[in-house]
Amino acid sequence: MTDDSNDTHLTRPLAGKVAFVTGSGRGLGRTIADKLASLGADVAIHDLNDSGPAKYGEADNLSEVAESIRRHGTRVTTVFGNIGDAAAVATMYETITAELGDVDLLVNCAGGDIGAAGGKPNPNNALDISLVDIQTEINNNLIGTMLVCQAFVRPMRDRGAGAVVNIASAAAHMGGSNEAVYSTLKAAVVHYTRCLAAETRPFGVRVNAVSPGPTKTARFQATRVTDPTMMETNDSFLRYGDPEEIADAVAFLVGPTAKFIHGQVLRVDGGLTLFPG
Ligand SMILES: NC(=O)c1ccc[n+]([C@@H]2O[C@H](COP(=O)([O-])OP(=O)(O)OC[C@H]3O[C@@H](n4cnc5c(N)ncnc54)[C@H](O)[C@@H]3O)[C@@H](O)[C@H]2O)c1
Repeated sequence: MTDDSNDTHLTRPLAGKVAFVTGSGRGLGRTIADKLASLGADVAIHDLNDSGPAKYGEADNLSEVAESIRRHGTRVTTVFGNIGDAAAVATMYETITAELGDVDLLVNCAGGDIGAAGGKPNPNNALDISLVDIQTEINNNLIGTMLVCQAFVRPMRDRGAGAVVNIASAAAHMGGSNEAVYSTLKAAVVHYTRCLAAETRPFGVRVNAVSPGPTKTARFQATRVTDPTMMETNDSFLRYGDPEEIADAVAFLVGPTAKFIHGQVLRVDGGLTLFPG
């Protein structure tokens, strides 16, 4: 092995891998896709529609996000569609594999506490949230994750290789009246991660989850009154997270140094959830 290939192994540990990050037109997903590309992966970025990145002013469209990620020198392609729609997911699979080849790394990041009208459901508690908001949240957070796993993890199982990270939430680990349905669905994503990990264990496909605490994405900041004392990124744990801190955890879990970590949930929340489960 030459010095050059040694360097590549260390600085670009995901070189030669193809990654699909759902919900990567903006927010956490975009930061994760950018991180995986910086480590050498070819990436497929995705949003609900081409203008998804514009919703909170992060970019005009998916092409602009793709162009920005291409600065890392890897291949980048774009797809869009509703992850809760099996036909749309099948089209995403066909497009990505035709353009980039087999997907090795899957990050299910699309989702959020978004109701039918586009913002947070109102009311947003267990007893009063509307049925249409419940159904939208189930689609965005649970059915979508399951459909994307079915489409992309079956081929990984058949090839006997791959790594998956499902993005859950600190909310998955705590009971609370506010965001009751979202929290319940993210708890389901954690449990689905464990069930899928049991299923893929004999086939060498690793499946883990990351549960971010409150993290400073554009959507996060646009949809609540933030606490100014929590906004600064510093050595304190008493603050909001940075998207890069979540992306680092995902990059670790899909990468070679996590090769014996399977079926786990990594809570990246500065110790907000200091209890088992
Ligand atoms: N930011 C936080 O504080 C935080 C904390 C915990 C968990 N999370 C989770 O991290 C993920 C990203 O959150 P974010 O803050 O970046 O929000 P965001 O709204 O900026 O990103 C969510 C992305 O998912 C896409 N999406 C949602 N439903 C979809 C669907 N049905 N089909 C296709 N695309 C869909 C959106 O269009 C968007 O691109 C979400 O799953 C969210 O629940 C975020």
